[in-house]
Amino acid sequence: MSDIARQVGTPVYVYSRARIEANYRRIVAAFASLNAQVHYAVKANGNLAVLRLLNSLGAGFDVVSGGELFRVLRAGADAGHVVFAGAGKTDAELAFALDVRVGQVNAESADELHVLNDLAGARGVMQRVALRLNPGVDPHTHRHISTGHAGSKFGIEIEEAESLLADVAQFPHLDIVGLHIHIGSQIPDPGPLVAALDRVLPLAQRFLAIRVLDIGGGVPVAYREGEAATPPEEFARAVQECATHLASASHKSLDISIEPGRFIVADAGALIAQVQATKHSCGRRIITTDAGMTDLIRPALYDAYHEIVPVVQGKPLEELTNVAGPVCESSDFLGRERALPAMKRGDLMAVLTAGAYGATMASNYNARTRAPEVLVEGATFRIVRRRETWDDLISKEI
Ligand code: LLP
Repeated sequence: MSDIARQVGTPVYVYSRARIEANYRRIVAAFASLNAQVHYAVKANGNLAVLRLLNSLGAGFDVVSGGELFRVLRAGADAGHVVFAGAGKTDAELAFALDVRVGQVNAESADELHVLNDLAGARGVMQRVALRLNPGVDPHTHRHISTGHAGSKFGIEIEEAESLLADVAQFPHLDIVGLHIHIGSQIPDPGPLVAALDRVLPLAQRFLAIRVLDIGGGVPVAYREGEAATPPEEFARAVQECATHLASASHKSLDISIEPGRFIVADAGALIAQVQATKHSCGRRIITTDAGMTDLIRPALYDAYHEIVPVVQGKPLEELTNVAGPVCESSDFLGRERALPAMKRGDLMAVLTAGAYGATMASNYNARTRAPEVLVEGATFRIVRRRETWDDLISKEI
């Protein structure tokens, strides 16, 4: 980490290729008995090198915008292995998806189905579609990353989905074969997922055309030292039970797919920051670093906890410290009340489990340049995104 910081500068995101590979293989193995298709959720980390790596391992992709679709195609993905989700797809995005022959569109409203049907008809193609459902269950996670609860902006209510499925003749250019749910992210245990499946699987039983079930992402990771997140195998077992139940009730077996994001990349990444200042405020030590909410917004946005460790370890812990970023916002903290050793300007810190929703949620607020991304491969590393320059910041202003 010190070598990378010296050569590339800070702040910098550092990803481990070996860990991404191991996480991908683990989740594939966990869901192997269900023969599940894995569509990696690009929003977690969309760096082309990460996408190329996952593509080479055989992953498909879950994208939520024309931009993410463009990205995965540039990374060499086969459009047929891409599912296109997203709560407010535009005509232009749907047209792009049809033109590149995306494998599946996960539709979120009747409006979207009508537009997609018209655009597909104009092109003389049939588009495979899954209906994203709102099962109306509480996933027991942070309110900002809950999606499956009643009143959520995501998905179609079950009753409306039933009437759409009962009248698919109005969509002659759509092959509506699937049901899709994603109830939230960082789901603590399979309970809410099972509750959601209990609500949506009767639709699969009732409508013959339904043969695909996409259960979304949400497999959790541990952010705190010593914490044990529910493993993917437990989620797979729970889904298996629901699938078995469906098979015995209706002799129907569904093709299952999953959309993990965080599980594959979160603990494969760290954000390295350099101490800029240490001081005290009301008796509490404050360490200000050169990384902040523009590089990792999760603590400010979701009160998320990320472990923070000094890069050079072994010094005795000294005092509880608030670790702040340089941005002019009071919410710009990376962590609060952390036991850290004595540190001085120039020392390096690592903010852990920053491989998911770190770089993809970065911004240029305060005219800060976005940090580079580095991929460690065995004993070597390479820069897979360069640091932005001040010229980059103004390059689009006319
Ligand atoms: N599929 C769909 C339809 C999704 O909306 C998401 C995440 C995923 C899959 C992947 O979920 P995962 O496996 O990563 O939990 N920025 C927030 C997380 C937002 C997640 C949005 N949707 C965070 O930093 O916690």
